[in-house]
Amino acid sequence: MARTQDTGGARHVAIIMDGNGRWATNRSWPRLVGHRKGAERVKQIVRCAPDLGIEYLTIYAFSTENWKRSTEEVLGLMGIFARYIEREADRLAAEGVRMRFIGDRTMLSSRLQKLMQGIEERTKHLSRLNLTVAINYGGRDEVTRAVRTLAAEVAAGRLDPAGITDRMIASVLDTRDLPDPDLVIRTSGETRTSNFLPWQSAYAEYEFTPTLWPDFSPDELAQLVARFGNRDRRFGGVKQA
Ligand code: IPE
Ligand code: IPE
Ligand code: MG
Repeated sequence: MARTQDTGGARHVAIIMDGNGRWATNRSWPRLVGHRKGAERVKQIVRCAPDLGIEYLTIYAFSTENWKRSTEEVLGLMGIFARYIEREADRLAAEGVRMRFIGDRTMLSSRLQKLMQGIEERTKHLSRLNLTVAINYGGRDEVTRAVRTLAAEVAAGRLDPAGITDRMIASVLDTRDLPDPDLVIRTSGETRTSNFLPWQSAYAEYEFTPTLWPDFSPDELAQLVARFGNRDRRFGGVKQA
């Protein structure tokens, strides 16, 4: 793959896009304005990612805990997701972006589910960038659903509990078709992971930046990706001489 910048292997970058609400509140604007601005940022970041050598970009858009927010905010966010898919579909397809979703979509409106399924189908042959959006995603919920799948196999007599491996567990997670993230970035200064990819990020590197998501620029992403290239990942082993 042609690369305009050597990333030193940040093949899969996952981003916890946080700070939309504060960005708007700082300006005395409604929180939804921040979310709209955040969606604009997503477009820019998706466009620049392949030039940074990123092959997989996974973004956290709505957590299983975000239903606790006001109805207005939740519905507003759902509307933004639907509009993003409708308005960006042609561009994403033209730019070779394969779009996928992770999370429990059964709780989303049937209209949104149809849009999600439609764009997954439409872009499934593309591979310049693998864009995965986590909507109604929670790592614990994902693992719980995976355990149910394996338990059903055991109950049906098709699987021996002693034969369960970590690869088998990975194969029933929502991320079964994705490599593990190399770099996880969280914006907005919070230094927690809020239920994002806990199984998959066991060996990921983390970057926490104070920048609020609507201000997160392609330049900052390039800097974090370059810094990743200088990190020494040992995966439990010993540094090679
Ligand atoms: C992140 O921004 C987007 C979502 C969680 C949907 P927030 O809405 O969490 O913004 P803050 O953290 O309140 O500033
Ligand atoms: C994490 O942000 C979820 C998303 C970015 C979608 P939150 O704002 O929901 O997380 P907490 O509440 O600060 O942990
Ligand atoms: Mg937040």
